[in-house]
Amino acid sequence: MSPYQIVDHVYDVVVVGAGGAGLRTTMGAAGQGLKTACITKVFPTRSHTVAAQGGIAAALSNMGPDHWTWHMYDTVKGSDWLGDQDAIEYLCREAPAAVIELEHAGLPFSRTADGLIYQRAFGGMTQNMGEGPPAQRTCAAADRTGHAMLHTLYQQSLKYDADFFIEYFALDLVMEGGECRGVVALSLDDGSIHRFSAQAVVLATGGYGRAYFSATSAHTSTGDGNAMVLRAGLPLQDMEFVQFHPTGIYGVGVLITEGARGEGGYLTNSEGERFMERYAPSAKDLASRDVVSRSMAMEIREGRGVGEHKDHIFLHLDHIDPKILAERLPGITETAKTFSGVDLTRQPIPVVPTVHYNMGGIPTNFHGEVVTLRDGNPDAVVPGLFAVGEAACVSVHGANRLGSNSLIDLVVFGRAAGLRLGEILKGGAPQKPLAKDSAGLALERLDRFRNADGSSPTAQIRLEMQRTMQADCAVFRTERTLAEGQAKIDAIYSRMQDVRVTDRSLIWNSDLVETLELDNLIAQAVVTMHCAANRKESRGAHMHEDYPERDDANWMKHTAAWFDGWGGQGGAVRIDYRPVHQFTLTQEVEYIKPKARVY
Ligand code: FUM
Repeated sequence: MSPYQIVDHVYDVVVVGAGGAGLRTTMGAAGQGLKTACITKVFPTRSHTVAAQGGIAAALSNMGPDHWTWHMYDTVKGSDWLGDQDAIEYLCREAPAAVIELEHAGLPFSRTADGLIYQRAFGGMTQNMGEGPPAQRTCAAADRTGHAMLHTLYQQSLKYDADFFIEYFALDLVMEGGECRGVVALSLDDGSIHRFSAQAVVLATGGYGRAYFSATSAHTSTGDGNAMVLRAGLPLQDMEFVQFHPTGIYGVGVLITEGARGEGGYLTNSEGERFMERYAPSAKDLASRDVVSRSMAMEIREGRGVGEHKDHIFLHLDHIDPKILAERLPGITETAKTFSGVDLTRQPIPVVPTVHYNMGGIPTNFHGEVVTLRDGNPDAVVPGLFAVGEAACVSVHGANRLGSNSLIDLVVFGRAAGLRLGEILKGGAPQKPLAKDSAGLALERLDRFRNADGSSPTAQIRLEMQRTMQADCAVFRTERTLAEGQAKIDAIYSRMQDVRVTDRSLIWNSDLVETLELDNLIAQAVVTMHCAANRKESRGAHMHEDYPERDDANWMKHTAAWFDGWGGQGGAVRIDYRPVHQFTLTQEVEYIKPKARVY
């Protein structure tokens, strides 16, 4: 007999997560008359989208010539030809309308003198299919674009009849016969258990940056949806591709937007040299993130880092008119002061590449439907299950995401998922009652950790995981670091059997809730390390020094990984591959053939 009181709910759609993608899907589903619930671990406007600074990419041509096909070219090149071009075409074609929709919904974009949406340059964004100068494509609300987006979308969502379950932590999916039938959640306010029956569940749970020691991600970025998918016996895709943002503040990891370089900022080493001119003669400081992060790491490795330990780099904005800084970069002006004590109008900011984004995640098609990646029929959908945003891998970012393509991904695919839900579901259609024990697995797991009285505190296991990921699965990887990393992360994973949970209360910030989050994180860490060790080439963010070249003949394929190690028994990861979509969605554009990626 379960000691838990379960509160049951029935909805047409349950969205898990209230960042940009979750809110846009909630609006779309509710706006089409579907009874929709959005369950979220934090208050919606505190979701991690709030931290996105520099902007949202769309070829509006407000600040110079642009075209969505140029955006598509840059995104394919940025992805190092691992992105699926049908999905990339959809993203870039739909982007301008998605931004105008946000403008009409009230997002307070910065403006040009003519009153148009202000757009800045961002890394890897160019004119004329990579042949022209930088494109000013990134639409900005100063350097607080994500914050403005969340407030806009949350206010819009309240216009529709969606129910918000705020500070509810999703524990597990309810799967029956290969179909998703709902989700079980814990109310972090009072510890009650809630079981949601739904025609469809949409995972919009973000990335898992907190698997690393130094990340720009919020503490809540624990990839809960990804882990639920693994527990449901489904695969994740391309987990070896982890993005390091070039400019996290040294020592604290807080983001300094790429928009800083878009406004004219530049990087220097200990010799005062603008070293990006050597690594990316054309794009320089506005090369793609993987290229800039690697160049910084090389400078540090070769002894040209700055500071007492020569372990970071300087970002200069001190040559820019303070009026421009105050108008366009007010947020980072404050952040630099608070977190590094720097007045950026006069001093450089100490920065270092910092984990920022997961290109990998839950495999979906461009409607947001989760696909199985099963041999023979990789594109078959999992009935009742959707994923959007950073949790999903559509895959538009491939091996490396371009800055400002994340916010546009959230709203374009959030909208696409809402449209698909409207197409395939009938509001109020009767639902078969869930099996009596449908919350059983979620509650067994909860009980296991509630009663965990081993000898390894949660915080200790988490720290060891984060240090291992940071050291062995970083900007540069080798056979040796990855082999050592696999052995270490598997051993750390097994220690979850011996975890000690002290504060067992079922509420926010308790040791128990942090242990559930750690259990989610560590599975993804194990999968990431194994996927990285398996890929014997270099592509985008996966720089393997023993295989320094991209190898299209053998490795232009997506990784699919299943995790069979639940319960603490070492990390059993099963890996397979599926082809990259080498086709476009419509006849309007041709497939962009692979070529050398230089900036
Ligand atoms: O640098 C930034 O403002 C981050 C943007 C992004 O990751 O898209």
